[in-house]
Amino acid sequence: MKQTTAPRTYRVKSFGCQMNVYDGERMAEMLGAKGITPAPEGEEADLVVLNTCHIREKAAEKVYSDIGRISKAGAAQGKRPMIAVAGCVAQAEGEEIMARAPAVSMVVGPQAYHRLPEMIDKAVAGERATDTDMPEDAKFAALPPRGSGRRKVGPSAFLTIQEGCDKFCTYCVVPYTRGAEISRPYSDLLREAESLVENGACEITLLGQNVNAWTGEDGKGRSIGMDGLVKALAKLPDLQRIRYTTSHPNDMTDGIIAMHGEVDKLMPYLHLPVQSGSDRVLKAMNRSHTADSYLKLLERFRAVRPDIALSGDFIVGFPGESDAEFEETLQLVDTVRYAQAFSFKYSPRPGTPAATMEDQIAPEVMDERLQRLQAALGRDQLAFNQASVGRTCDILVERKGKLPGQWLGKSPWLQSVFIEGDAQIGDMIRVELAEAGPNSLKGRVLEGVSA
Ligand code: SAH
Ligand code: SF4
Ligand code: F3S
Repeated sequence: MKQTTAPRTYRVKSFGCQMNVYDGERMAEMLGAKGITPAPEGEEADLVVLNTCHIREKAAEKVYSDIGRISKAGAAQGKRPMIAVAGCVAQAEGEEIMARAPAVSMVVGPQAYHRLPEMIDKAVAGERATDTDMPEDAKFAALPPRGSGRRKVGPSAFLTIQEGCDKFCTYCVVPYTRGAEISRPYSDLLREAESLVENGACEITLLGQNVNAWTGEDGKGRSIGMDGLVKALAKLPDLQRIRYTTSHPNDMTDGIIAMHGEVDKLMPYLHLPVQSGSDRVLKAMNRSHTADSYLKLLERFRAVRPDIALSGDFIVGFPGESDAEFEETLQLVDTVRYAQAFSFKYSPRPGTPAATMEDQIAPEVMDERLQRLQAALGRDQLAFNQASVGRTCDILVERKGKLPGQWLGKSPWLQSVFIEGDAQIGDMIRVELAEAGPNSLKGRVLEGVSA
């Protein structure tokens, strides 16, 4: 494909997990540093980056239909947009995309996107390029600093501290698309956190596929785990809140549990996926924990932080899952009483061991199980919200609500809280939680404190 003019505007569309959102921001900063600016609302961009997710099915089909739509929308405005496919579908199916979609100029995997600027130059010269290399830890070192490319940082920012996965759960593509586990160096993370805070972040969520597996050396050369990192970040005066996601039960340490009772800035919220309540299914999933060991772990968190909001991920209909095994998942949910949770129908992913296992579960059975599970989770989420009514807490204002004068913020327990009154994005506002719904609460403003 011949492309002659360099792109002046860009749009990055990120799908999937928070790490993709983070990557999308870093790509945007890189494009900004190259002098390319965000496309104005309503205008097609010269360069569109599709930052894709491969976790469940139809991901690739969605990419192709997005490519078609972007080309068409561009053509309607007399443009031929340059299209880059990034993210986990790019990593898994880069060659097929190049072969099937001539409108795509670049395919770049999650560990290679620091090379996007060079690839754009090539594309301008009419050369299509695929880069799905996984150079160890090279990406972060090559990215421009945070806040560059004239990008504004919101009040709640993401910071990838750990990436990749060595766990190989039998259903999951992530170890193949993100590569082996790496921990980013401590000093780089402190620097990045400082610059996020300088650029307006009041809350930082530490990200990793197994975030609690992070290890590093502190400024004095001592080995530390994620708890050491959190404690160091908590010393940044203008950083008010710290969160982390996603953890794996097997990487939990005494220090991480203990810090929930020690670090005020660490929010009382834990996302700890379990996937199933059946030990047989967990074994077949290669989860290497049992339902019981998981429950014991949660009890330890509750012992140090009794108000902690617990969250998890579930898969229903894993190959061979019997009715009785599914019931065990419901029992686990009844025991835990999650504040929030994410549940999915099992989706066979090409190349993963579970995809070729016998006894794949019929779609109707999965539908029915998912509905029952979600009813139970919804019940518990509402109960958690109702039990919060009367609590006083700070909310961090993240955006405007739909109604005039309405604002939406997050409670320490990651609940969405609507308030009315004078506020600004980034404000910490003291409220009393006044009314609870299944997905949000209403807060009564007690006092506004400008961040
Ligand atoms: N690293 C994290 C998250 C991985 S992906 C962890 O291990 O917890 C996020 C969630 O997607 C998983 O927790 C799992 O519940 C779900 N998931 C992953 N692969 C899936 C598949 N093949 N089908 C359905 N859900 C899946
Ligand atoms: Fe996937 Fe399991 Fe790794 Fe999570 S721990 S990313 S579910 S393989
Ligand atoms: Fe999706 Fe890749 Fe994240 S598959 S969930 S974007 S790690």
